[in-house]
Amino acid sequence: MEHGTTLTQFIIEEQRQVPGATGDFTSLLNDTLTACKKIACAVNRGGLIGILGSADTENVQGETQKKLDVISNDVMVDALEWTGHLAGMASEEMDDPLPIPAEYPKGKYLMLFDPLDGSSNIDVNVSVGTIFSILRAPEGCDNPTVEDFLQPGTQQVCAGYAIYGPATMLVLTTGHGVNGFTLDRSIGEFILSHPNMTIPEETGEFAINMSNQRFWEAPVKRYVDECIAGSEGPRGRDFNMRWIASMVAEVHRILTRGGVFMYPIDEKIKAKGQDGKLRLMYEANPMGFIVEQAGGAASTGRERIMEIQPNGLHQRVPVVLGSKNEVERVEEYHREA
Ligand code: AHG
Ligand code: MN
Ligand code: MN
Ligand code: MN
Repeated sequence: MEHGTTLTQFIIEEQRQVPGATGDFTSLLNDTLTACKKIACAVNRGGLIGILGSADTENVQGETQKKLDVISNDVMVDALEWTGHLAGMASEEMDDPLPIPAEYPKGKYLMLFDPLDGSSNIDVNVSVGTIFSILRAPEGCDNPTVEDFLQPGTQQVCAGYAIYGPATMLVLTTGHGVNGFTLDRSIGEFILSHPNMTIPEETGEFAINMSNQRFWEAPVKRYVDECIAGSEGPRGRDFNMRWIASMVAEVHRILTRGGVFMYPIDEKIKAKGQDGKLRLMYEANPMGFIVEQAGGAASTGRERIMEIQPNGLHQRVPVVLGSKNEVERVEEYHREA
């Protein structure tokens, strides 16, 4: 049977073009893929082995963790701490950065991840995913501090996500476009199935949690009102709406057929003293990198996400991402407001 390019082969060939590449990054990515395959397996068997539902613990985000949030985090840590490629890791599910245990060698990269994105969907068998972002550790950094992780998104070496849907896929950028790979379970390998993913500039689809409508700021209200007015409004054409409540699934749809995704700041979020819902380091930056590499845009509505100087590991930001023209329109409405 003929199989296409595996993800490992793809990365090795890509890294051959990088002067001075040591193979460390290729190896790190391979270990990340293994973790994603293990999480795919746990998610897939969840209902059979009693690991759906709540873990009755709360994470630093103030969310009740699902059992699979905790399991997925453990899988990522176990798959990555021993490899010798990381100086440290940070996760949505861990209060502080995790240093590499003394018995293992330390490497030159920092890994940040959302081990299970969309976990509110896990019990209802709707797509979830894993999002990761790889940064270079500052020179000579042996035991990284929070500050070492606080690099703007433009510094990312790699960003990717795994989506556990009807098919398990891995979508990845190292700054040379975006490529999608589908897990072929018969051989246990991710195979290049979606080369050079690009987001159409124009779109007729928007994604936002409409139940927050009454809390939104004026520019977001205006944008969505105009979409809903459709052919009878200033846009002069009809729009369609989707909301999956898994950022990975929304971004994956946008990479496939265009669209705009928004989780803006609103009065409800402000009342909690937060600056957004989604996390800059584990969600907004990696997805921003992927979306930009696919020809789209990622903004807070006021600034480019990847240029934000982070001020905290668990910092939250408003997110508007997807087809370029729509994101620019939302930004324009913010400027005009
Ligand atoms: P997580 O499951 O990692 O905590 O992230 C959930 C995020 C994101 O994936 C999704 O877009 C959003 O929260 C859904 O929010 P609502 O529940 O407000 O719709
Ligand atoms: Mn969460
Ligand atoms: Mn998430
Ligand atoms: Mn999560």
